[in-house]
Amino acid sequence: MCGIVGYVGEREVVDVLFDGMRRMEYRGYDSAGMALWMEDKLEVIREVGRVAELEKAAHERGLTGHLGIGHTRWATHGGVTVENAHPHSDETGRFVLVHNGIVENYLDLREELEHLGDRFVSETDTEVVVHYLARLYKGDMREALLELQKKLRGSYALVILLRDDPNGFFCVRRGSPLVLGLGDGENFCASDVPPLLPYTRSVVYLDEGDIASVTRQGASVWDETGSPKILDVHQVDWDVSMADKGGYPHFMLKEINEQGAVVRSTLKSRVTEGGVDLSDELLWTEEQVRSWRSLHIVACGTSYYASLVAERALSKWTDLDVRVDIASEYRYRTVRTDEKTLAVFVSQSGETADTIAAQRLARGLGAHCLAITNARGSTLDREVHDTLLLKAGPEIGVAATKTFMGQLTVLYLLALYLGRLRGGISAVEEVRLAEELNQLPYKVEATIAREESVQHLAERYAGCRDFLFLGRGYSFPIALEGALKLKEISYVHAEGYAAGEMKHGPIALLDDKVPVVTVIPRDSLYEKTLSNIQEAKARRSPIVAIGTDGDELLSTYADYVVTVPWTDEAFTPFLSVIPLQLFAYHVAKLRNCDIDKPRNLAKSVTVE
Ligand code: M6R
Repeated sequence: MCGIVGYVGEREVVDVLFDGMRRMEYRGYDSAGMALWMEDKLEVIREVGRVAELEKAAHERGLTGHLGIGHTRWATHGGVTVENAHPHSDETGRFVLVHNGIVENYLDLREELEHLGDRFVSETDTEVVVHYLARLYKGDMREALLELQKKLRGSYALVILLRDDPNGFFCVRRGSPLVLGLGDGENFCASDVPPLLPYTRSVVYLDEGDIASVTRQGASVWDETGSPKILDVHQVDWDVSMADKGGYPHFMLKEINEQGAVVRSTLKSRVTEGGVDLSDELLWTEEQVRSWRSLHIVACGTSYYASLVAERALSKWTDLDVRVDIASEYRYRTVRTDEKTLAVFVSQSGETADTIAAQRLARGLGAHCLAITNARGSTLDREVHDTLLLKAGPEIGVAATKTFMGQLTVLYLLALYLGRLRGGISAVEEVRLAEELNQLPYKVEATIAREESVQHLAERYAGCRDFLFLGRGYSFPIALEGALKLKEISYVHAEGYAAGEMKHGPIALLDDKVPVVTVIPRDSLYEKTLSNIQEAKARRSPIVAIGTDGDELLSTYADYVVTVPWTDEAFTPFLSVIPLQLFAYHVAKLRNCDIDKPRNLAKSVTVE
């Protein structure tokens, strides 16, 4: 939820930290702070609000140096105040640290320390951690951090400065991400890769329980037992322009526009004219694939909606018993998961706490676990048996758009591949579907090019307070996703519903002030959905229809029609979601909302 960045080297640390913090504001943005070595003193500065507020204050104080740590906060323990903002220090100011995660037993630890005479100035779990560290430290930070880990329960990525050591910083992580960036005479750490991209593409993903000491000269890493590790250095293939707005007013709009390219690069070398082949990435034996009886897909938020779409394709193209669950539900109820289960975990960040916990549960029960993620090196990626990556590049806007598209693409590749391996799909059908899959990037781009029509739609309805989004079959999850997008970035109340369920309750909400946005491609359920439109129209609701090119009939029922190119029924979600993303974007813009950083939200939810 929070973002961490650390630097040591020749550059001006204040510039590096602010650049990194701005690139990580999507992780949390209610307050910010930094600590740095200035001459021979550790300086700490913290402000409530966005990074820009802190930047102003730092310049006024004339802060400068070459070693420091920074933090953007998304409040969990304690309100949004300067006292609760990071970094936190022990009473003597000898230890200064920033933290991402939640220490669950902090109240017990705090009580223990208060008995020993410690006094706290914040309400945070983090302040307890730094006090505890100060008591454990006996001159060797590695030893102290090994001991500290024995005391802490919960999740943490900690980056620490020590007043006695002006040469570098220390790190430790468990349950929250932390990446080291290696440069030439300079080194970095961050919660995520984008802050590192302007300086280096050589990264080390710290494992659970790893401890690191980082100086200008390099980094030393120890595992959770204290044994030294050989650095496992990865070269990331993202570049810095991918994490910039590239001339767009918002990351979200840029990312919507990148969706054709995302589908293209995600398909690349995985689909040919003959069909789908994932055998280079999934080293599954025929026997293994045939042993699976059920397929569980587990995810949260938008990733869950992508999974619901895929459930339909997987059920059609394979003989597996497919079920989709919200991760926070899956982990707490009885699930029939065993060695005959292929369990798929969908998460753009690979750091969502509930999805990670659900994976651990399924794996413990014997399931074969596959991650679908955009984040190589993420916790999910490192813990599963297999990973299929989306090729989406960094997504900075808090509202997921291009990663949804990437997830759909990977899930469909998986569906077709399993269909082939288990004989659920004929060779002729596979070729036909592969051809259509290869056409999708062009159709996605053609749909995005219709933005102007969606902008006019937004102008017409931006003042409404409530919306109902409807769809059937493949379009039902798209209605859910359309409603979620509108809620999260424009703060307008929107309900997503299965069109056939409308008359079982939500119809009571309808009147001339509640527009009904219906996703109605020319598919096998078209006429049924058309009846639902008529039911809503009879209650005087303004009707918006997301239909298919050439469907003249729709305009006789709907007040506003946006069409998308024709595609096979199974692929319609790839196209019909786009007008809904653009609609949410333009409504949010007209309502002057902070589109890339909606209130109360964080890009990755690393706490339960
Ligand atoms: O990183 P993940 O895909 O696991 O994230 C899951 C959800 O938190 C995420 O999709 C969330 O719903 C977004 N705000 C959607 O725009």
